[in-house]
Amino acid sequence: MNIHTETLFRPFPFGPTTLWNRIVMAPMTRSHSPGGIPTSDVASYYRKRAEGGAALIITEGTVVEHPGSNGYPAVPRIYGDDALKGWRQVVEEVHHAGSAIIPQLWHVGSVRQPGMEPDPSVGGFGPSAVPHPTHGETGIPPMALGDDGIGTVIEAFAQGAANARSVGFDGVEIHGAHGYLVDQFLWEKTNRRTDGYGGSLEHRLRFATELIGAVRAAVGPEFPVVFRFSQWKMGDYRGKLVRDPQELEALLIPLAEAGVDIFHASTRTYWKPEFKDSHLNLAGWTRKITGRPTITVGSVGLDSDFLGAFMGKGADPMGIENLLERLERDEFDLVAVGRALIADPQWPTKVQKGHFDDIKPFTPEALATL
Ligand SMILES: Cc1cc2nc3c(=O)[nH]c(=O)nc-3n(C[C@H](O)[C@H](O)[C@H](O)COP(=O)(O)O)c2cc1C
Repeated sequence: MNIHTETLFRPFPFGPTTLWNRIVMAPMTRSHSPGGIPTSDVASYYRKRAEGGAALIITEGTVVEHPGSNGYPAVPRIYGDDALKGWRQVVEEVHHAGSAIIPQLWHVGSVRQPGMEPDPSVGGFGPSAVPHPTHGETGIPPMALGDDGIGTVIEAFAQGAANARSVGFDGVEIHGAHGYLVDQFLWEKTNRRTDGYGGSLEHRLRFATELIGAVRAAVGPEFPVVFRFSQWKMGDYRGKLVRDPQELEALLIPLAEAGVDIFHASTRTYWKPEFKDSHLNLAGWTRKITGRPTITVGSVGLDSDFLGAFMGKGADPMGIENLLERLERDEFDLVAVGRALIADPQWPTKVQKGHFDDIKPFTPEALATL
């Protein structure tokens, strides 16, 4: 394969540090942290991807300190001495391998149902008492957060970010995507409020902007704050927050002004144009509109999107010429890689050396043996 991969191996400034290349490991839930504590297994999992050449690791979602933040088994916490001790070890190992690492701060909102960890008696919380599309008609509606509840959750994100900083992480990513709590406030279908947090887009943005502001205040001006957002939602893959560049601008400018340094535009296939009349993808539009650095993601190096992974389907390696062309044109700055890095921790090194034929395919079994 005769392509110029050097463009992926240019450094990039990231707060006070510098990433040695443009490859980012996408956040992917593992469910390998019993009791919410990341173990030495978690440290070696991320260290391997750093050793393989991912310059920035975004961890799996880590839940903030709120009774309803979690929705899945054995997900790590970003609070509590025991969990933070585990994270310190993870950070040290990744740094030792020469890469940077940030946690993804997460609250699942109305995806949570009673019966889930850590306290089965606690149900979900959301902007409105509307069942999440993931659960269909039979879902138990969440408790709508009041003003106090909103303040408590925002404080939990700010504290999670401060905790991340205290154990040596290089920044934080706020999970504002995929139909979880922050996105539930942004999305009309899940946000039916009639107070200052619902209704117009400006009002639906208020939770996110206050949260970003609180995180920024907690970590100071130098610490990178990444915001992940998406059009698609869990349970509604065709869901949309915005329909054209003007609406995207109305969404992103307040988020940028609230303190986002880097936007992570989550799509399932990076080569798909976001709007008509331009080939730009969501990350491309985001960079054009905000002027902020952006991360693209979605089927990098693979021939089908990640939904298949949850239906027991694999994906084969595929060329990245289109990605490199877009990166060379500065349509985005960083490239997040998900399943390809689960399948093959050496993916960046193999790409750099041009050893494309050695890259391993993604098999669904890889998820079981993470
Ligand atoms: C097993 C698995 C777990 C995931 N967990 C998360 C998560 O915790 N947070 C998140 O924002 N995205 C999550 N995602 C989405 C990925 O970050 C990524 O956007 C998606 O896999 C597309 O990238 P890929 O095509 O390179 O795999 C997950 C994806 C997979 C396959």
